[in-house]
Amino acid sequence: MQPPKDLSVIPEPVSVHGTGGPGFTLDRGTRILVPPGSAAGIHVATTLAAELRRSTGFPLPVASAGADDRDGIVLRITGTGGLGDEGYTLEVGDRAVVVTSKAAEGLFRGTQTLRQLLPGAIDAGSVQRGPWRVPAVRISDHPRYAWRGAALDVARHFFGVDEVERYIDLMALYKLNVLHLHLTDDQGWRIAVDGWPNLTRHGGGSEVGGGRGGWYSKRDYQRIVSYAQDRYITVVPEIDMPGHVGAALSSYPELNCDGQAPPLYTGTEVGFTSLCIDKPATWRFLDDVIGELAALTPGPWLHIGGDEANTVPDDRYRAFVERVQRIVRAHGKRAIGWQETAKAKLEPTSVVQYWDVRSSADGVRAAARAGNGLVLSPASRVYLDMKYDSGTRLGLQWAGHVEVRDAYDWDPATLLDGVDRQRVLGVEAQLWSETLETIDDVEFMAFPRLPAVAEVGWSPGSARDWQGFRHRLAAQGPRWAAMSINYHRSAQVPWPE
Ligand code: ACM
Repeated sequence: MQPPKDLSVIPEPVSVHGTGGPGFTLDRGTRILVPPGSAAGIHVATTLAAELRRSTGFPLPVASAGADDRDGIVLRITGTGGLGDEGYTLEVGDRAVVVTSKAAEGLFRGTQTLRQLLPGAIDAGSVQRGPWRVPAVRISDHPRYAWRGAALDVARHFFGVDEVERYIDLMALYKLNVLHLHLTDDQGWRIAVDGWPNLTRHGGGSEVGGGRGGWYSKRDYQRIVSYAQDRYITVVPEIDMPGHVGAALSSYPELNCDGQAPPLYTGTEVGFTSLCIDKPATWRFLDDVIGELAALTPGPWLHIGGDEANTVPDDRYRAFVERVQRIVRAHGKRAIGWQETAKAKLEPTSVVQYWDVRSSADGVRAAARAGNGLVLSPASRVYLDMKYDSGTRLGLQWAGHVEVRDAYDWDPATLLDGVDRQRVLGVEAQLWSETLETIDDVEFMAFPRLPAVAEVGWSPGSARDWQGFRHRLAAQGPRWAAMSINYHRSAQVPWPE
């Protein structure tokens, strides 16, 4: 049977079949049922209940699944035939909805599909009138790529914990699973480091344009990590080096080759700062910063930046990256770096992030040939800080304009010829914040392009099609209105009036 016409799930699932019948209606008596003893199941159930209570006003108790699953949303962890940890099946019948996965991640991803099968008003922050119908379908789904990221630049303009949590919420709805936080740059240092308090006290107190800036205490950072973890999103913290370090240089004179701390920088140029690579103080600093951040970060990754170190000669740059990789490993993490790091001899576990469509990708190709994994962030596709078109109020345009179709209509497997597709770990959307001052600005640039990138990362190539996608995007409009998302009403999308 064909799926119902109005099913508008993003990312498009691997397989969807209509099963006939009236479907399920969420009502005052609905319970969320978890097999006894499943702590992970209870965790996912509790998050789902909180999401659905806000708009339905129903009690939606989390209870133990037994023989009677009537009026239940059943969350089951059990083998699902090769769908992997993030894969799931979702069956909507007349008396129950059953989500099944091998692991908690997949169960959570399945509940996000269920959210999207409900009317958009389900995502409102206050009680709405139903009915809360879910169409009768059977979905079987799993991601194409393991790395489906979104990066947020909290250095050029600072975003507080609540604002980052909001971004995490928006990511979770579209099954993104990596939050890359760009924590440090010329204009600001945003993470507390015990041994180097001036980094935040001085270096955290400004931003582009000269505003107040801000920074995360270790507790703040842990709140973000834990909020992300609850949604099965891994935080990848970035300390950019050896360039993009103006705020650190301004905070500690000893990090400068001439021993003089420059003033804080509030402009938007890039590529003019560098750590003083041969100074012992620099290596004490890096070991402390990487060590403390690694200890706060449960995920396996630490991003070492490495982009646009334009003042550092190549041989020194290579030696620097090689030494930093060893420090990262000594603190128990794997390094990921921007594509420039491919100039160095990479450790087998290091990952390279492609971004600069203006320069040769040969180094990236060589890294892939050597066995290193790649994360793809081609600026002309997934730099969400690029303007949509010449009329966009916010954003930059050095990589051109990036309309919704540009963000959607490309294939990670064939982007870089000569790269074995096995080496591609996934995709990541970047949001640099030189021109973005508020979370409303962030949302305007991310929507609708972030869901487009999410589908590039999740859905099989065969399920992707721009014409279908633009209609599914249009159907998200009422949901985004319910969530008060400030989105760009791109002329490429047939929005409902
Ligand atoms: C970058 O956009 N400089 C990675």
